[in-house]
Amino acid sequence: MRQGVDIVGLIVAAGRGERAGGGVPKQYRTIGGKAVLAHAHDALAAHPAVGRVVTVIGAGQEADYAQALAGRDAPAPVIGGATRRDSVIAGLAAIGHADMVLIHDAARPFLPHAVIDRLIAALEDAPGAVPVLAVPDTLARGDTELGDAVDRTGLHRIQTPQAFHYDAIRAAHGAWDDGVEATDDAQVARAAGHAVALVQGDARLDKLTRAEDFEAAERWLAASMVTATGMGFDVHRLVSGAPLWLGGINMPHDKGLSGHSDADVALHALTDALLGTIGDGDIGSHFPPGDPQWHGADSATFLTHAAALIAARGGRIDHVDLTIICEAPKIGPHRDAMRSRIAGLLRLPERRISIKATTTERLGFTGRGEGIAAQAIATVRIPEEL
Ligand code: CTP
Ligand code: MG
Repeated sequence: MRQGVDIVGLIVAAGRGERAGGGVPKQYRTIGGKAVLAHAHDALAAHPAVGRVVTVIGAGQEADYAQALAGRDAPAPVIGGATRRDSVIAGLAAIGHADMVLIHDAARPFLPHAVIDRLIAALEDAPGAVPVLAVPDTLARGDTELGDAVDRTGLHRIQTPQAFHYDAIRAAHGAWDDGVEATDDAQVARAAGHAVALVQGDARLDKLTRAEDFEAAERWLAASMVTATGMGFDVHRLVSGAPLWLGGINMPHDKGLSGHSDADVALHALTDALLGTIGDGDIGSHFPPGDPQWHGADSATFLTHAAALIAARGGRIDHVDLTIICEAPKIGPHRDAMRSRIAGLLRLPERRISIKATTTERLGFTGRGEGIAAQAIATVRIPEEL
């Protein structure tokens, strides 16, 4: 990839999804708990060569858009038109300036980075490039009765993203006859005289068109999830005259934990365990102890942030297991309250939360009552990187 090339992802998501049915337009339905549009958006946004992503939605779909891309700093959407081509034209106009554009259907949620790499590489030599797959089945004409077979030599199924030099595709759409329907952008580019290169597509890029496509996508995503385990460990000092926050609840005790935040050692260990499942640093890298905004902070904020990071990757928390290590106070009488609070914060059923406690037989700093330690393990399922 050439340095300094401005590459924009353009997602068209303004359709109504009539063939798929299902009440809400297909790009706003979820697969694995994440909106179809969000899958497509995140794949484009995460590619290192793509500088920004512009999304075109239908008039009145603003709330669906905001919900689908919640938690991402996605820009305000562009409003599309009655046909896919109208939506592409609106998106291209909103982009304004770019070197290259990758025009992608929101209805193709699973976008491997290798396809984007191939498209960008192909634009070195051609003004346009599209991902294609071979046609494996015999093709034939016919209405009620089978007619002639169609020679499939040289035939391709064409997918998106379709990649173009920005100025070329914008001018090509301007020159196209508005009275003629264009089902993709490559035919518009070709009509304007631009060569369009073929690169290898990917079966996972197939478009969600009908209701049964959603079932298959849901099954495929579930099968592609990998299990990740993360561990966390933390210690805080016990001091007189401080409240004791432990496992998200305020416990009666003659001492409390000291720290920059509310020092809830159990929630800190859990937060680190969750961050460990996605390899996203630790609690200190997200909430630096020197930062005054976290002074006295409710550690529940840290835990829910880690859970949100997992959710943003399409991950699901399966289970967490926490061990609190202290001589006093006794954890047993408070275990149910802690469990219920953590279940609420993680939005999981209580049976997925385990809380254990142990002493260290009066040995060491926990045995002498100088501090409380906690360790945690979290198990999550994360979609495999495409
Ligand atoms: N699209 C668009 N603007 C339109 C029509 C379609 O942005 N006026 C988008 C769709 O949101 C989709 C892509 O173009 O991401 C491919 O179109 P298609 O699969 O036909 O989606 P829909 O038009 O939504 O579905 P249907 O034709 O079944 O109603
Ligand atoms: Mg359509």
